[in-house]
Amino acid sequence: MKVHLYERVWLWMATAMIAGFLGAIVFSASHGAVHPPSHMETVDPTLVSSHPDFSRPRVETQPDGSLKVVGTAAMYSFHPNLVRVPAGKKVTFRLTSPDVIHGFQIVGSNVNATVVPGYVTQLSTTFERKGEYLIVCNEYCGLAHHLMQARLIVE
Ligand code: CUA
Repeated sequence: MKVHLYERVWLWMATAMIAGFLGAIVFSASHGAVHPPSHMETVDPTLVSSHPDFSRPRVETQPDGSLKVVGTAAMYSFHPNLVRVPAGKKVTFRLTSPDVIHGFQIVGSNVNATVVPGYVTQLSTTFERKGEYLIVCNEYCGLAHHLMQARLIVE
């Protein structure tokens, strides 16, 4: 079968683009710690306020020295609203929403997740740079979406 030269050129260009996109995914996963969701865990969104874990927003030090931040993203605030963590230690966030979908982005870090009612969003990172970070909701969630923010202090 004879394939026209232009056809072949475009086929190879499309193949090269796919290879490039795959390479970008592999590179960002290995060098930028950009990962798909780690697990699936559900929680009844109507029972978040009485949930044994999520009703107590907190920062907890684990036996291995790492930290666990448990909280919620709800219209229009994050709980806890101020998170203090030490630099260079692994921090695991566990979040859920009792109402609508929210975003959880820590500006200047690789943390950018979606918090979906009914599910637990869990992710881990390590903050090497000390300072104050802004946490914003980056999913439109209602009239005061733009006011939904919190602070993270790495010390
Ligand atoms: Cu919460 Cu936008």
